[in-house]
Amino acid sequence: MSLISLVEVSKHYQMGGETVKALDSVTVHIAENDYIAFIGSSGSGKSTMLNILGCLDKPSTGDYHLNGNDVDSLKDNELSEIRNLEIGFIFQSFNLLPRSTALANVMQPLIYRNTSYKARKKLALDALTRVGLGSRVSHLPNQLSGGQRQRVAIARALVTEPSILLADEPTGNLDSRTTDEIMVLFDELHHDGHTLVIVTHEPEIAGRCKRVVELKDGRIFSDSRH
Ligand SMILES: Nc1ncnc2c1ncn2[C@@H]1O[C@H](COP(=O)(O)OP(=O)(O)O)[C@@H](O)[C@H]1O
Ligand SMILES: [Mg+2]
Repeated sequence: MSLISLVEVSKHYQMGGETVKALDSVTVHIAENDYIAFIGSSGSGKSTMLNILGCLDKPSTGDYHLNGNDVDSLKDNELSEIRNLEIGFIFQSFNLLPRSTALANVMQPLIYRNTSYKARKKLALDALTRVGLGSRVSHLPNQLSGGQRQRVAIARALVTEPSILLADEPTGNLDSRTTDEIMVLFDELHHDGHTLVIVTHEPEIAGRCKRVVELKDGRIFSDSRH
């Protein structure tokens, strides 16, 4: 069975008298250890897709199964629980807590877990070491470069051991050299068995993924592996 299956998922918005089909009967299956890019022009449905995959939003119609959970039937409080357990988010703007150290930022999602401070600290240090920041754990975000901040954000996404990592334009705020470093890290995470979904409009980023799904007008226009 797929880690993720979306079957005939639609997301509709009522705008005045008009219905906007942000997603229009999309069927897509994502296997464990997939390394997938969603591409498409502005307005094609990428963010809507990511919000649904990330359990931030529910489909208007259709089925969404995530790691055995029937997401479309969950209540809002159950949705946030699934999100905390299953999803690691990485954002374009890093979204770190500005007055917290790298370590505290990475420990933050573990607060909801029933683990001791000592155990949380160990997990966070391991995650920061994993992304190559073992020597920067006491730095504040503004004492780190853009690439390092994104590494902290990746460590924060990894620390809960989610079943899937979702990245929304993760290199959109980075220069080309730093972009390459982050992509090398994603390649390594893929190699280590993680499942990665990246939304991007940059063809070079999509070209590094193993699978590229192009959205157009809320539908799947193409789905190719390489
Ligand atoms: N909350 C919303 N209310 C109304 N329309 C929306 C909303 N979110 C997205 N849309 C519309 O759905 C379509 C897809 O949007 P989006 O998923 O943000 O595309 P992308 O991320 O590819 O630019 C667009 O036409 C957009 O205007
Ligand atoms: Mg978008």
